[in-house]
Amino acid sequence: MANPKHKVPENRPGDFFVDSTCINCDACRQIAPAVFSEATETSFVRTQPVSMVDRRQALQAMLACPTGSIGCLDGDDVKSVMQDFPLVVEEPVFYCGYNSPKSYGGNSYFIQHSAGNWLVDSPKFVAPLVQKLEALGGISDIFLTHRDDVADAERFAEHFGSRRIIHRDELPSQPGAEMVLEGAGPWELAPAFLAIATPGHTQGHCAMLFRDRFLFTGDHLDWDRHGQRLSASQDYCWYSWPQQVESIERLAAYHFEWILPGHGQRVRLPADEMKTQVLQLAQDMRERG
Ligand SMILES: [Fe+2]
Repeated sequence: MANPKHKVPENRPGDFFVDSTCINCDACRQIAPAVFSEATETSFVRTQPVSMVDRRQALQAMLACPTGSIGCLDGDDVKSVMQDFPLVVEEPVFYCGYNSPKSYGGNSYFIQHSAGNWLVDSPKFVAPLVQKLEALGGISDIFLTHRDDVADAERFAEHFGSRRIIHRDELPSQPGAEMVLEGAGPWELAPAFLAIATPGHTQGHCAMLFRDRFLFTGDHLDWDRHGQRLSASQDYCWYSWPQQVESIERLAAYHFEWILPGHGQRVRLPADEMKTQVLQLAQDMRERG
């Protein structure tokens, strides 16, 4: 629960505030960009919401915040927003919300599918979301991009009887996984679901391509909304930057229009523009060394 006594000083006065426990994960800025911005090391309320849409998004951000760092002095309506998650990205793909502090506030996704629904990485295991996922038909498969973002995957798997999928090199983070990816892939996990090895950020990092349209990228790459280009983080590359460059370059061989990251901004671009962006990013990374 956010503490108004510890508000960060940048907040605009009003109902909503961010307190000093914020870990600057960016989730609120993605969900309610009209309300939240980035201060030096935290988010803050740049503009108090006025419209119904902005208020609802601010409340969604409050619920998604992994550290409970967003407060609302008059938030009696928050209960009515709890059932909003998962939020549609583009049918049949949804953003789960309820980001977990165990994954440093990483995003997770839900795919509704007639042969069984999927999770990509894991949100917090919380009752409002679990009930909603039950109503949507449960979870048959949980794809885990890498060790950092497994969060409550084990609890979801136990509850829904799901198959967890992770690469061998990430297995210590999820030793009970039901399916272990070996080698360099790619692996067709099910029709329209393709796992692609993307070593770099971690050794066994994998992305998942769904329907040649949605690419779930974990912490491999994301969208830089300020620079309006694709981006990868050398500061948070735990394993091999040269391998991460090669992994990104290889993605240009695939067709997709969405990048759906764990950390960072998602984006949709026409497939040819996406390919140009991917190759440009790889070139920029090589030049950076
Ligand atoms: Fe990570």
